[in-house]
Amino acid sequence: MKPTNDFCPQTLFLYGTYDDEGRADFGLFCWFSYIWDGELGVMACIGGNKLTRENIHKRKVFSANLVTEKLLPLADYLGNTAGHSPEKKKLNLETEEGKILPVPVLTASPVNFELEVKQFIPLLDGEVMLCAIRNVLQDDLLAKGEGASPEKLNAIAPVHTTCQRYFSWNGKSLGAWGGPMSDIG
Ligand SMILES: Cc1cc2nc3c(=O)[nH]c(=O)nc-3n(C[C@H](O)[C@H](O)[C@H](O)COP(=O)(O)O)c2cc1C
Repeated sequence: MKPTNDFCPQTLFLYGTYDDEGRADFGLFCWFSYIWDGELGVMACIGGNKLTRENIHKRKVFSANLVTEKLLPLADYLGNTAGHSPEKKKLNLETEEGKILPVPVLTASPVNFELEVKQFIPLLDGEVMLCAIRNVLQDDLLAKGEGASPEKLNAIAPVHTTCQRYFSWNGKSLGAWGGPMSDIG
């Protein structure tokens, strides 16, 4: 077969960056995993040119916000709408400032990484970024709440993606890419 990652589910994140006007921009990303370099770090790949990539190049920092079922319609929209488009620039999302880095953090997401790029690895068309995790924010339910991790994961319901579709934490189909966004008003 040609290169494909079908049937290999991935976790989804919304990367938050500030543009030149100080506006928060969010894009949807799944090429995200972890590295070890004396401590836990993150590797992220961005393919092609997009506002998120330009903003990260200028500021060397971004947030990665875990996508949950509740966030999916918005996340799908943010992954299918270019940051340079006037409609995305008009969006008014509920964000907070990172606690350590100057990055926009999505309030509705239960897990947020504040990331600082330590190394850019340019490829033919894409780019890999190796990042230090400068801070992790978790909802109280996760960080301090009672109960074991299975119940907590069921409560936040992270979304998986593969085969160009979204899947719930327990494996239910949540629609094809570009589908859930039709649920936002
Ligand atoms: C499910 C899904 C996953 C995506 N994952 C990535 C990814 O890992 N890397 C990437 O470069 N683009 C990815 N995209 C595309 C970006 O989200 C899209 O280019 C978006 O417009 C980026 O936001 P921006 O234009 O505001 O930078 C994905 C899109 C979808 C729908």
